[in-house]
Amino acid sequence: MMSEKQHLKKVVEQYRKNTPKSSKLFDETTGLLPGGIGGSAPSFDPYPMFIKKGDGSKLLDVDGNEYVDFNLCWGVLFVGHRHPKLMKGLQDQLEYGTMFGLPHAETLEAAKELARRFPVIDTVRFVNSGSEATSYAIRLARRYAQKDKIIKIEGAYHGIADSLHISKRPSLELAGPESQPNSVPYGKGITENTIKNTLVAPFNNIGVIEKLVNDNPNEIAAVIVEPVMMNSGVIPPQDGYLRTLRKITEDSDIVLIFDEVKTGVKIAPGGATEYFGVTPDLVSLAKAIGGGLPLGACGGKKEIMAEIDKEGLFGTFSANPLSIRACKITLTDILTDSKYDKVERLGKTLLSGYQDIIEDNQLGAIVQGINATGGILFTEDPVNNYRSWTKVNKAKTHEYWLAMVNEGVIPMAYGAEEEWLISVQHSEDDIQKHLEAFKEVALHL
Ligand SMILES: Cc1ncc(COP(=O)(O)O)c(C=O)c1O
Repeated sequence: MMSEKQHLKKVVEQYRKNTPKSSKLFDETTGLLPGGIGGSAPSFDPYPMFIKKGDGSKLLDVDGNEYVDFNLCWGVLFVGHRHPKLMKGLQDQLEYGTMFGLPHAETLEAAKELARRFPVIDTVRFVNSGSEATSYAIRLARRYAQKDKIIKIEGAYHGIADSLHISKRPSLELAGPESQPNSVPYGKGITENTIKNTLVAPFNNIGVIEKLVNDNPNEIAAVIVEPVMMNSGVIPPQDGYLRTLRKITEDSDIVLIFDEVKTGVKIAPGGATEYFGVTPDLVSLAKAIGGGLPLGACGGKKEIMAEIDKEGLFGTFSANPLSIRACKITLTDILTDSKYDKVERLGKTLLSGYQDIIEDNQLGAIVQGINATGGILFTEDPVNNYRSWTKVNKAKTHEYWLAMVNEGVIPMAYGAEEEWLISVQHSEDDIQKHLEAFKEVALHL
């Protein structure tokens, strides 16, 4: 049996052999682009593959390697790559124009469909990204409640707004006790006042939320939470967690925000809100709703959303015709009910296949997932919040990921905090290819 170090060395050698053009491109982009990449996520060792084309469930890189893609751009491409209905709709829209600077009718149809899926949406504002959607939610909640403080979940990622870039992935030395977590800024550049106004609670821990609410009477504008914590693998809420959160916030006049940027329209047509049957006051959406075009949305109760009319909040590219056309086609023509049944079935096959392989090879790993999304976590302990996620073996995750790529499968987004997604264009064959690759890779982990 090879040592861990020898195996990783072999995996990296193979990767380099497969991807010489990517290596050359990375050498050229390094220095000109921070980290050598365009800016959507950090790069990884030794360098990323540069992609030429996406099609259906597959990606083709500049060296001619084909991959079955389960990253799908961090969950954006629930419709898969270049869905024919979407391509046709976008080509058609190009004939009409990409920006008008005046309203256009299709925005109404896209908004109606989001309101149909998410009962909380009386009113919706379209934006361009998840960061914008969560920024809107926080600003509107503060305006409405006329209070400054918010509570966010430790380890949760909600985009780059200053108020939310707190305790994104704090070191445990800085994080303080679990019963009273510190607010730890994600790097420099966030003001003391901002840090002070973002309070932090661990996921799946109602006790800390209750304490924060009691210790800060009439000071908290909002609680923002991902109903399924998605940036520490996939961590489902424990029984009753969301319902109790709903009750506490309702009783204390605190705006409850569900950040459904990753779960919305994915784990069910109406996202986690529908899946768990708990309705927030505001919801932020992005990623999958745009079918691959930049689009986000913040929607919710009309009395809170009315704050936009009082003092205005705008964005030049908001509701641009191309993204709105993509949203409308994605939600009404592609993500139909039968597609949810299909991805749920494929998701179950992938999860149980992983479970069997982990057991057969006695890997120190677990899998967690819901419907089309899931992931492997290289730890034997249950993962139910950020602190338990920190025990995940990051080096092992790296080795697994690169070895899977060598087998022609991008198994999930890169990084131990990430997860896989199955698109509506994935087939049973794609799932079997993924499992066969994992079977091979697991022998050496
Ligand atoms: C839950 C969640 N909220 C917000 C964001 C920010 O979205 P964007 O990268 O589109 O700004 C992300 C991005 O991954 C996310 O996962």
